[in-house]
Amino acid sequence: MTAQPADAREDLRFPDLADPRTYLDVDLPAMWRELRAEAPVHWNPPAEDRPGFWAISRYDDVLAVYKDNKRFTSEKGNVLSTLLQGGDSAGGKMLAVTDGLRHRETRKLMLKSFSPRVLEHVGQLVRRRTQQLIADVVARREADFATDVADHIPINTIGDLMDIPVADRGKLVEWNNRTLSRYDEDDSQVEEWLARNEILLYFGELAKQRRKSPGEDVISALATGLVDGEPLSEDEIVFNCYSLVLGADESSRMSSIGALIAFTEHPDQWRALKNGEVSLADATEEVLRWTTPAMHFGRRALEDVPVGDEVIRAGDVVTLWNSSANFDDDVFPDAQRFDLGRKPNRHVAFGHGPHYCIGAFLGRAHVSAVLEALRDQVAEIELRGEPRRLYSNFVYGYVGLPVALTAER
Ligand code: HEM
Repeated sequence: MTAQPADAREDLRFPDLADPRTYLDVDLPAMWRELRAEAPVHWNPPAEDRPGFWAISRYDDVLAVYKDNKRFTSEKGNVLSTLLQGGDSAGGKMLAVTDGLRHRETRKLMLKSFSPRVLEHVGQLVRRRTQQLIADVVARREADFATDVADHIPINTIGDLMDIPVADRGKLVEWNNRTLSRYDEDDSQVEEWLARNEILLYFGELAKQRRKSPGEDVISALATGLVDGEPLSEDEIVFNCYSLVLGADESSRMSSIGALIAFTEHPDQWRALKNGEVSLADATEEVLRWTTPAMHFGRRALEDVPVGDEVIRAGDVVTLWNSSANFDDDVFPDAQRFDLGRKPNRHVAFGHGPHYCIGAFLGRAHVSAVLEALRDQVAEIELRGEPRRLYSNFVYGYVGLPVALTAER
């Protein structure tokens, strides 16, 4: 592992991008604007407890690295927390951290469970469930939008796709919250590992049952499917279940919660949605761009690769900042404007290239269902307290949002 490339400039003007506090304390749009303009391929220096890494902030550079899974591998981790530890124990066994033929074959197997027929049905269930959740809040007027509404949407969709018993879904959300992102600074790393272990053990049990008596769900598809003529290993099944639940749950929740905050800050856009001036599809894309829940993903370079004015050396960790690329003025005119009618809107909230999000359809379905239910049932949105932010260098979002929703007459 390289401590620091020989020719990288030591640039201490910018905050430490590995520190979760940066995302709470700093003016982020200003920081990213400066990085894109002055250090688009920036070397984030090492600290006592971790190596340095590259941070790429311009849209075109981010896209170029996402596309190139030959020279930039995901197998040594794809987020800062694992990349800086030197690897991911699921490397080569879980879709997101596997490359090459095995990645393509496993992706094909998993995609069978995401056929248009299945997704169409799931989409209808999401809309019905979301309308009901919003109706419940509107009836009592005040609620915490994060815990009373958003927490219940994606986990139930992926729960249905995986046939996870309804009674277990609440504890999965709780474990998820404690794995890749913590509620606050005081939560220990041990707690993070314990939660991750709980999830893995849980799916280990479920996978064993499905191997014996398979159903129509994704876990059964993983437990009985073949890759390269062989069944998947126990580890592969469990890690992929883990990644589906983690991927599905947290990001979608953060987009829905972020949408509500955006509406309170941009009442003109709330009116545009209410008056039908913008389509649900366009509004969904802008909410995804605006909220960009997965702030970064990352790779490790397998050979020396020039990017912009720098050369990434073999072995270096490279991070791709969706939360900057999605606000690059060269691609999104007036990028800091929340504009539900924005077109084109080729954001990278779901990544790009070979690892493009397998759940993008579902992610969109979740956000769109929330927008639709708000539009149909809510006249006014009011914040009733400080939104509570997640403590993370990976996921941007909120875990608490006290609101009052006034019913449409
Ligand atoms: C991959 C974001 C919803 C499962 C990704 C990637 C991003 C992303 C940026 C690329 C990772 C990389 O390049 O290393 C999001 C966002 C979502 C969302 C913002 C919601 C708003 C979902 C859902 C599921 C899911 C609903 C599950 C059904 C996955 C999986 C991968 C992935 C398994 C790995 C794909 C691969 O490596 O081939 N997601 N995701 N995500 N996502 Fe999502």
